[in-house]
Amino acid sequence: MSAAVQAVQSRAQILTGQFAEIYGSEPDGVWRAPGRVNLIGEHTDYNNGFVLPFAIDRSALAAVRLRPPGRDPEVPDGVVRLASRYAPKGHGLSREEFSIHGLTPGSTEGWAAYPAGVVYALEAAGFPVPAFDLLLDSTVPVGAGLSSSHAVEVAVIVALNDLLGLELEHADMARLTQYAENRYVGAPTGIMDQSASLMGREGSALFLDCRSLAAETVPLPLAEHGLAVLVMDTRVAHSHSDGGYSARRASCEHGAAVLGADSLRDVPADADLSGLDAETRRRVRHVLGENRRVGQTAAELQAGRMDTLGQLLTASHASLRDDFEVSCAELDLAVEAALTAGALGARMTGGGFGGSAIALIRCADEEQVRTAVLAAFQGRGFREPVLFTVLPAAGAGRV
Ligand code: GLA
Repeated sequence: MSAAVQAVQSRAQILTGQFAEIYGSEPDGVWRAPGRVNLIGEHTDYNNGFVLPFAIDRSALAAVRLRPPGRDPEVPDGVVRLASRYAPKGHGLSREEFSIHGLTPGSTEGWAAYPAGVVYALEAAGFPVPAFDLLLDSTVPVGAGLSSSHAVEVAVIVALNDLLGLELEHADMARLTQYAENRYVGAPTGIMDQSASLMGREGSALFLDCRSLAAETVPLPLAEHGLAVLVMDTRVAHSHSDGGYSARRASCEHGAAVLGADSLRDVPADADLSGLDAETRRRVRHVLGENRRVGQTAAELQAGRMDTLGQLLTASHASLRDDFEVSCAELDLAVEAALTAGALGARMTGGGFGGSAIALIRCADEEQVRTAVLAAFQGRGFREPVLFTVLPAAGAGRV
């Protein structure tokens, strides 16, 4: 058994014990869902385009026990009880509850909105959800742009899928958690993050067509090539419920409409963009170029070539910074400092406006890149970034 699998099992064991202390008996099981790093393909998912993320070796765990009516006379029927050991703000255990039948968008806030959103989405799709008790834990840093919230949603939906025997496919669960995020939590995000968490494979990235959700596993043998992916969490808070993300989405939709296409996916890479206003043209140019880079990266990896990967990542960053304008000073600095210190490529990952950047580095250069990035941040008076390497891990499932 690998060290990573062992670590998850021991976390699950601790969680099971704590669940019994809180709720009086053991859970029906524990489910795991990873966070993600997007290798390349940013702001392409909601344009029906292509992405190449991987699930990471940091995950949310959900211990769940169904509570059929009458099982616990102390608790009213239809009430979901929630507890979290990773309560994003503050320490210790955070507890919440909600009534399944009283759910309306936004009726539950904070971390509890993610499980509530999943229940809301399942009910809306015609799957009645009975009451249950839940205890959450997570090693995905919150606010780092590594999809900590999607990891929680996915852990909850895979648990309910198993316990209720719903037999939902990965693509169904991805769409349902996207619905939870869009309609209940109120963040107009695409489908990449959930899909990566559900469909990831150890040692691989996921080449995903966001229109059909057809997924292809692409080998990402970092260690075999003496390479690592270093995450540089700038600790600049970002939120996709804020205006920037939806404004970009609206620009892309506007661009597609002016070009007479249903989505930017249907606009050819060499389309004439001269009829667009300057800002929309930059946004569209990013999406067309980024889809092309995703295809190139996937093809290189399929052919077992890693040497052009770095250039593609860095080109993606330049496009996100200059054309899509979703980077920020801290992300640009992390990328620059890593490249100057010898990284083979670097880019912001995720929605942007904060969160994390990644650098593709030689394992042998790790110390020198870390030192250079920390020094660069100190020199500019920014908050100290958090640096750690990640590995491509398996997608969600029962522990
Ligand atoms: C966030 C969203 C994703 C995707 C990325 C940008 O992570 O949740 O759906 O749009 O931003 O690529």
